[in-house]
Amino acid sequence: MAESMNGLKRTHRCAELNLSNWGETVTVMGWVQKNRNKGGLDFVDLRDRSGIIQLIFEEGVSAPELLEKAASLRAEYVIAAVGKVQKRGGAINDQLATGQIEIAVDELRILSEAQTPPFHVEKGSKTKEELRLQYRYLDLRRPDLQKNFILRHRVTTLTRQFLAKEGFIDIETPILCKSTPEGARDYLVPSRVHPGSFYALPQSPQLFKQLLMCSGFDRYMQIAKCFRDEDLRADRQPEFTQIDMELSFVDVDDVIDVNSRLLVYLFKEILDYDVPYPIPRMTWQEAMDRFGSDKPDLRFGMELINLTEVVKDCGFAVFENPVKDGGSVRALCVPGAGDMSRKKIDKLVAFVRDYGAGGLAYIQMLPDGSRKVSFGKFVSEDYVNAIIDTCGAKDGDLILIAAGTNKVVWDSLGALRVHVAGQLDMIPQDTFKFVWVVDFPQFEWSDEEGRFMAMHHPFTMPYEEDIQYLKSDPARVRAKAYDIVLNGTELGGGSVRISRADVQETMFEALGFTPEEAYERFGFLLDAFKYGVPPHAGLAYGLDRMVMLMCGTDSIRDCIAFPKVKDASDLMSKAPAEVDEKQLEELGIAVRENVGAVE
Ligand code: AMO
Repeated sequence: MAESMNGLKRTHRCAELNLSNWGETVTVMGWVQKNRNKGGLDFVDLRDRSGIIQLIFEEGVSAPELLEKAASLRAEYVIAAVGKVQKRGGAINDQLATGQIEIAVDELRILSEAQTPPFHVEKGSKTKEELRLQYRYLDLRRPDLQKNFILRHRVTTLTRQFLAKEGFIDIETPILCKSTPEGARDYLVPSRVHPGSFYALPQSPQLFKQLLMCSGFDRYMQIAKCFRDEDLRADRQPEFTQIDMELSFVDVDDVIDVNSRLLVYLFKEILDYDVPYPIPRMTWQEAMDRFGSDKPDLRFGMELINLTEVVKDCGFAVFENPVKDGGSVRALCVPGAGDMSRKKIDKLVAFVRDYGAGGLAYIQMLPDGSRKVSFGKFVSEDYVNAIIDTCGAKDGDLILIAAGTNKVVWDSLGALRVHVAGQLDMIPQDTFKFVWVVDFPQFEWSDEEGRFMAMHHPFTMPYEEDIQYLKSDPARVRAKAYDIVLNGTELGGGSVRISRADVQETMFEALGFTPEEAYERFGFLLDAFKYGVPPHAGLAYGLDRMVMLMCGTDSIRDCIAFPKVKDASDLMSKAPAEVDEKQLEELGIAVRENVGAVE
């Protein structure tokens, strides 16, 4: 039978107690971690968010009713205990902050009984994630998850403090919006008052924060919920949180400076980690050439090696043809992997096929000085030697070569670099390598759409000297866009926005929008710009990703209290779910028959 607190007040959280409290009478409250009886002694581990304390009940000392009550305690019961702090009679537990003390309990109240939970609540649980997510409220009792959320709270609190000091104002923007041009699919919300019309949930506060600059707020920030209906991955959720900001009267360097200082501050305060300042910058072109990725992981080397010039006339069509078509041939030299088995190499070949590569050519430099060249029949010894020289390969190394369009070669070798480094334990843990990737191309060609698309969004400002190429040679226009990358993950991104009407018009034209189409989609922003718009720029971080990296986990689900699984559903509340026919009627919505789930 559950009892009430009835005026009892907690004096301490469990792990706030230590030897300095010796002799004090204290009141603690929390969940029973475990209860064990040993030779006339009953030991109860009590858990709250601070940690664990041992309660002790002793035959001959404690009253018989109290002993009986203690014996009835089971895992996850919620209790209150009043007693005296004493030095542990038994073994000291070095694993616990409170390992030298225990509470000799005089009064015990059972505030709530608990059924046997579907899994044991403990640190580092091996329970399957599906079951944990179904009972997320129990999962969240685990100390390792609680640590993540306490760290997340520190990130948001310190970010707000830091940005407030820098003159940023926290302003909320709407959740019921018109669709923003971010590129992912929108989540739609039907309007009851306007049947047939829909709101879109914001993919980001992009347009609103630009409007706030037009209104003169000068510096805005928000910890903003964003919604994107896109395929989920370990670092992607359909609803996620951004640390979002926008600044007036600034250029690229100003945004990078304030944000570099914010990152240095957060990592020092929270992890006592010194991020070197200034954070290095790398152009997009350099990132692609050296790492095959616009989010380079700088914790290890093994950079891409350009073999295009070396092999362009080698006579082997697999290398020559892509070069003739404007593509390239590039390699990775994997140290110490020369004797990798054929089976493992075949797996690497299959890996790059997912990135569009036809396959991989390779040279195995065996430790005994001999070589296996997968394309040896087609290329002369001189070319093979030239490749080895260019790669700086030694006996024992493995050279992996991809040929194709630049995009395919970069994508496949960029991903392969990280994959192989992970397999061979080449990536140092416990280090944070930041880099600003700058000077992105303004446009990216879309085969699907058959036209150039904005790489960031249509409001991103090109470099002044590149504006002249907007229509004549879009591929060479560089954008004033920047991403902050940490350990190979895109932590955040932003850009300087277009604040000149003539540039914006040319941009829409280059993107294939008629003035009417542009006005239809972004009219309110274009109108606002007619009434005095300051030059402005901004950036948004993925908060969940930042916390994930700071916590050292590899899934953002560990840093989101109630996350969704791969098919975007919530296993606990069972959202999304069908709704009453009456609700649909009110909204004027009929669900089509035979609408199956999307795979
Ligand atoms: P962008 O689309 O690059 O920029 O998003 C900014 C950051 O948000 C995080 N992010 C995500 N995190 C979890 N799940 C997702 N589905 C997801 N999608 C994005 C990433 C990313 O770097 N309005 C612009 C910012 C600006 O220009 O100011 C924007 O949203 O960490």
